[in-house]
Amino acid sequence: MGTASEFQILDSDHPRGYGRTHAKMILLGEHSVVYGKPAIAFPVHSLHLRAEAEFRGRGWQLITPFYAGEVTKEPEGSQPLERILAETAVRNTLRLLGSEPTNLHVTVTGYIPPARGLGSSAAVAGAISLAVARLHGVELSSEQRFHLVQSVERVAHGTPSGLDAYATTRGTPIWFHEGIATPLALDTVPRLLVADTGIQGHTAEAVSKVRRRFESDEAAVTDLLTDAERIAREGRDALQLGQISELGSLMNEAHAVLNALGVGDRRLDVLVEAALRAGAAGAKLTGGGMGGCMIALAPDAHTEMQLVQALTQVGATAVWPVHDGGDA
Ligand code: MEV
Repeated sequence: MGTASEFQILDSDHPRGYGRTHAKMILLGEHSVVYGKPAIAFPVHSLHLRAEAEFRGRGWQLITPFYAGEVTKEPEGSQPLERILAETAVRNTLRLLGSEPTNLHVTVTGYIPPARGLGSSAAVAGAISLAVARLHGVELSSEQRFHLVQSVERVAHGTPSGLDAYATTRGTPIWFHEGIATPLALDTVPRLLVADTGIQGHTAEAVSKVRRRFESDEAAVTDLLTDAERIAREGRDALQLGQISELGSLMNEAHAVLNALGVGDRRLDVLVEAALRAGAAGAKLTGGGMGGCMIALAPDAHTEMQLVQALTQVGATAVWPVHDGGDA
């Protein structure tokens, strides 16, 4: 394990640990990534979380945008998912550190809308585990952090591919394949927007729906997964060559594949169609689907403004730009 870092305030009377993570959006490869196919994800730096951990108060206390209260030492009965995820992150990090403090206070601030396919559960888990470990003077290795986030993600949706665990902490776009996340260095940064249907997505349900389909019609689903893999590989080439219209066409193809896998939703289609009418080079759902968010690729700055307007007019509750670069 590492040593005390700049992220721990070294005031021995009142040490604090901080952790920061951001939202992610999947450009290509959601769902097929669960079957070992490659995927491309981008950080969404405008949506981020910051956790702060201190030894203070009594017992273990947690304040997040969605829950404020005690963290019990063992899981208790049925609780809202956001609470379960944050508590699991605290407990599992303490277990890894071999620590049972008499008092702990963890605050999570910032905003990533939950259940929108933007990686909120992985980001909450990542920020909390970094903060709690740093409070103890420990800098988690990327492997330790990954396993902690995965332990929380398994509670959120059963069989996570691991993509969100990396994509919510890495500051650059990544190519994710067979458990390995490789940074993608891009000369041309694509103008991507994320738009929210305002409707909760259902990643766990969507992942099990694809699984049931795979079990009942393996040949058809295997064909779709093969298509998804080709699209991701061609998408990486188009990204690296700065070929925006090719990338847009591949996004449209990916949207059709995801609809064929059964994870689409009419309200996502409404936003996708509006974006294409307003001049997007391509548009698709992003993340688990069945609600949640879509993404659109603008060919230029002028069209980007038109896309924001068009998406808002047909009911998007929020539209965020995807900025490349920045810190994690
Ligand atoms: C969820 O953000 C993306 C999915 O591919 C599930 C996963 O990768 O674990 C649907």
